[in-house]
Amino acid sequence: MSARTAHGDGRSVTVRAPAKINLYLAVGAPRPDGYHPLATVYQAIGLYDDVTARPGGSGTVPVQLDLTASDHVDGSAVPLAPGTNLVHRAAELLGAHHGRTLRADVHVEKDIPVAGGLAGGSADAAATLVALDRLHDLQTPDDDLLAIAAELGSDVPFCLLGGTAAGVGRGEQVAPYADPAIVDATWWWVVVPSREGLSTPRVFAHHDRLRPDAAAEGVVVPDRVIAALASQDPELLGQVLHNDLQLPALDLRPDLVDVLEAGEAAGAVRGIVSGSGPTCVFLCTDADHAREVAERLRAAYDVVLVATGPVAGVHRVEYV
Ligand code: C5P
Repeated sequence: MSARTAHGDGRSVTVRAPAKINLYLAVGAPRPDGYHPLATVYQAIGLYDDVTARPGGSGTVPVQLDLTASDHVDGSAVPLAPGTNLVHRAAELLGAHHGRTLRADVHVEKDIPVAGGLAGGSADAAATLVALDRLHDLQTPDDDLLAIAAELGSDVPFCLLGGTAAGVGRGEQVAPYADPAIVDATWWWVVVPSREGLSTPRVFAHHDRLRPDAAAEGVVVPDRVIAALASQDPELLGQVLHNDLQLPALDLRPDLVDVLEAGEAAGAVRGIVSGSGPTCVFLCTDADHAREVAERLRAAYDVVLVATGPVAGVHRVEYV
C-alpha cells in the first residue's frame, strides 16, 4: 500500500492495481462454507487496471461506475449496474466501516483480462478501497483495509499487498515473503489470455469431481518452492511451478493444452495455467528470452503480453 497523504478536498484519485498469478496452488477438500482451503504463492505482475474516483454518485446510486478497456480485454463482460460489481461492494463495506455512505464516480481502465484467473475483479475492488479512502480522507488503517478486503474476496487482500506472498485459508490470509532474495528477484512472464473467460466456482467444482479424495487439511507450500524462489534461477522455479486447478481447467477447456504446448515449444522454461484459468503464463529466463517467446507465440495467438513480477500492490499514481 502506498504512503498516505492527507487530503479531504481532492477532486480525483487514480489508483493502480496489478494482476496476480499463482506460482504454486494446492487445493484441499471443500470446507463446510463451500470455500476450499488452499496454500498458494501469489505474485503480482506488471499488468494493471487503473481505478479513478471523483466526487459524484447520487442518493440512489452512491457509486456510479464506468469502464474503458484495452483492445485485448472484453469490457462488455464486466457488470456495471449498481450492486453488480465488486467495486460497489467495496464502497459499501468501506462506507459501513466508517458509518457513512461513500459517494463517487468511479472509472476503471481495464488492462487485466476479465474472468482470466488473474484476479482482475479483485484488483479493481482493492484499488477502489484505496481510491475511496483517499478521496474521502478516511485514513483507514492498513489492517482494517486488509480485513475489508478479505470480506470482498479471497484474492483481494493480496491485490492490496502485491509482491510475492504466501496465501492460506481460502487465500485471504496473506504473508509477504521477507527474504531479500525473494523480494528483489525479477521474473519474466509471457502471458497468453483467452478470448473466453472461465468461471472460478465452476473450476473449483470440477476440481472436486476430479479429486474427490483431496485432503481436507494440511495443504502447504513446500519448502522446495520457497527455495526455488530464493534461488532466482528460472530453471529451478520452472521445476516447482504447480497448480491444482490446472487439471480441471484443462478438462473444461482442452484448447488450453495446445496453448501450454505452444509456449513450451516456443522455448519457455515452463508454462502453467494461472489460478482458475484460462490465462496461461510462461516463465522465461530474461527480457530478451521473454520477447522471443512472445514473438513466436504471436504467430498463433492474437494477444500475447510480456510482464515482470513481482510488482507493488495497489498504489496511488495520480491525485489532482
Ligand atoms: O473469494 P471469492 O469470492 O473471490 O471466490 C469466488 C468463488 O471461487 C467462490 O464463490 C468459490 O466458489 C470459489 N472459491 C473456492 N475456494 C477458495 C476461493 C474461491 O471455492 N479458496
